[in-house]
Amino acid sequence: MRSVLLLLLSALAAASAWIPVEDWESGEVTASVGEEGQCVCHVYLPDTTFPADRMEHMHQVTKDLMLEVDIQIKKMVSYDAKLKVYLKELKDLSIRVVMLESSADKYVKLDFELLRVELREFEALVLQLRDSFNSSSPVFDSLFAEIRNMSLIVDQLETFDQSNLLVIRIEFAKLQKKLEDCQKEQEFVKPDIGNCNHTGILSLSKPMVLQINAHLNAGYQYGGWGKDSKPVRGSESMYFYGAYTGPAVHDFYLYSDYDKLILRSASKHHDIPSGWEGTGNNYIVHGNSIYYQINSPFSMSKLNLTSSKYEYRVIPAASQSFSYSYSPNQNLDFAADENGLWVLYASEENLGKIVIAKIDEKSFGIQDVWKTGAYKQLVGNAFMACGVLYATRSVDLNTEEIFYAYDTRTKEERHLKIHFQKFQEKYTNLDYNPSDQKLYMYNNGYYVSYSVRFDRE
Ligand SMILES: *[C@@H]1O[C@H](CO)[C@@H](O)[C@H](O)[C@H]1NC(C)=O
Ligand SMILES: *[C@@H]1O[C@H](CO)[C@@H](O)[C@H](O)[C@H]1NC(C)=O
Ligand SMILES: *[C@@H]1O[C@H](CO)[C@@H](O)[C@H](O)[C@H]1NC(C)=O
Ligand SMILES: *[C@@H]1O[C@H](CO)[C@@H](O)[C@H](O)[C@H]1NC(C)=O
Repeated sequence: MRSVLLLLLSALAAASAWIPVEDWESGEVTASVGEEGQCVCHVYLPDTTFPADRMEHMHQVTKDLMLEVDIQIKKMVSYDAKLKVYLKELKDLSIRVVMLESSADKYVKLDFELLRVELREFEALVLQLRDSFNSSSPVFDSLFAEIRNMSLIVDQLETFDQSNLLVIRIEFAKLQKKLEDCQKEQEFVKPDIGNCNHTGILSLSKPMVLQINAHLNAGYQYGGWGKDSKPVRGSESMYFYGAYTGPAVHDFYLYSDYDKLILRSASKHHDIPSGWEGTGNNYIVHGNSIYYQINSPFSMSKLNLTSSKYEYRVIPAASQSFSYSYSPNQNLDFAADENGLWVLYASEENLGKIVIAKIDEKSFGIQDVWKTGAYKQLVGNAFMACGVLYATRSVDLNTEEIFYAYDTRTKEERHLKIHFQKFQEKYTNLDYNPSDQKLYMYNNGYYVSYSVRFDRE
């Protein structure tokens, strides 16, 4: 026999995503939306007899749930208000587009295709948002109507064949970011940043395509972007970017925050001095230092952004004969996770298979190594999360998979089939960032990111 307890609570808006999903997927408690838009919570007590201590426990759970519901209802009300604000901004945006229509020649060249990509992304975001609210609220209908209207306007503008409405593009990106923030809040505060009490990666979100690189040039296919994985105080919002038409690494750009990244307004441009040029594009920023590969001598290089000093360390075992499948010269791949800084490379001794090396940040030396069974040239790219190496490979033009994992704690390897969508076919940089549990990918010239979901059982 199963006893069922139903809690019916009126919600002000119709929505269901009011409890952190991960806490409730055990099957003991489920939530849905009733006919009137109210939140319905089912608590299943898997039992035969009726022991008093369980009843006591249930009372506690009920009380906690009531509290939780109360908190979440308050949040929902604020979402509703926020969505209305976004809607208004979109309306303003439409007005601005109309204004630009009449004076478009004042603006520089516009990439209409990119504008469409961003509109599609925007639509997908709204769709996701609507699904997770499980609601047919008129707010969403209006958002969709606005997006359709914008698409039409873009089509019309293109027939004028005028150049460049960069301004609109930036507005779009800003709007996108706002929706993304709304989404993030909807997932609620992630209490598990830094927590490795899980059995590994379960899935990746859909790709979030931010925009094309700061050179506004899809020909800049070799590069990377992301955030500092261990930011120093005051640099928590900083982004980095670097890209080129070939695999050589000549310079890096830093942006003080997201808006500056979108506006392509760098706070700093590091032109790498002669002798310190890099290659391979598998660099990261960690502790306000850029770690990247140089070729003469073939070694790890570090540019300390605080002191602007360069340093290098040779790894005798690392081989220059093996690269990842999408790009040449990728011999040293830097990674950072909850456990610190790593470098991944293949060695002759390990027959071209990936070796994981832990970097001691103080001495900039190798402190430990693990030999994996992943043959590097079959791997698209690799990253570390919670002390586990994950390797990817191509499934088809639009699909990639995490197919291999190696746990440095247990020294065990696993074969996986975690599929995820690609925006474009190839990528030169893929890294996990423990500070937001996201993957950052430089995908044929575009900034792309994914949210990582871990298996917490
Ligand atoms: C969404 O709401 C419908 C009824 O309005 C319900 O049948 C369905 O189970 C809900 N889905 C989720 C994921 O809560
Ligand atoms: C779409 O744009 C037209 C003008 O271009 C405007 O009259 C109409 O109200 C807009 N529709 C929505 C849903 O905003
Ligand atoms: C890890 O999670 C499991 C189940 O989710 C829990 O039983 C255990 O106490 C947790 N361990 C730590 C150290 O938090
Ligand atoms: C970078 O340089 C600063 C100032 O000299 C120093 O305090 C810091 O420890 C250095 N960071 C790294 C990662 O080497």
